[in-house]
Amino acid sequence: MAERLTKSAARNIFYGGSFFFLGVFVILTIHSHLYIKNTSTDESTLTEAVARGKHVWERHACINCHTLLGEGAYFAPELGNVWVRYGGREDPAGARAALKAWMRAQPLGIEGRRQMPQFNLTEQELDDLIDFLEWTSRIDTLGWPPNVAG
Ligand code: HEC
Repeated sequence: MAERLTKSAARNIFYGGSFFFLGVFVILTIHSHLYIKNTSTDESTLTEAVARGKHVWERHACINCHTLLGEGAYFAPELGNVWVRYGGREDPAGARAALKAWMRAQPLGIEGRRQMPQFNLTEQELDDLIDFLEWTSRIDTLGWPPNVAG
């Protein structure tokens, strides 16, 4: 064995290491993609209404105040699990009515409390938005957030 690192050995380590980790990176990227498509995304219930609801969510920039699965602003509550928080798993109709009532009642105008604006959404927009939030609540987040308050 050579006592010192030769030029060719250094080159081989450099190229070998670069290609090895590039390969690992490509494999992990493919794995993430397939995991998102096949495991963590519930494609079978991804309806037109859910897609429209996402557009309502984007048009009104709810994310400027709220987080959705941790992404967004920390001014207002996490909404990735708001469907579960409102009891949507046990009583879907009740949760839907409660969420609509909440959206319609804004702003509450309670002194010293953060306010949410009134968006004047139509019945259809509210239904689509809630379909979107319901669908989002079913994304497999491996138990995140750790508590129900998000
Ligand atoms: C300007 C900031 C702001 C924007 C934009 C905003 N919200 Fe809110 N939202 C709030 C605040 C603040 C609260 C908590 C208010 C409270 O508890 O009185 C809240 C609460 C909520 C809640 C109740 C959460 C819970 O756990 O009780 C829902 C549902 C909600 N927002 C949905 C939306 C949707 C949907 C949009 C977009 C159409 C939106 N918000 C846009 C500030 C905002």
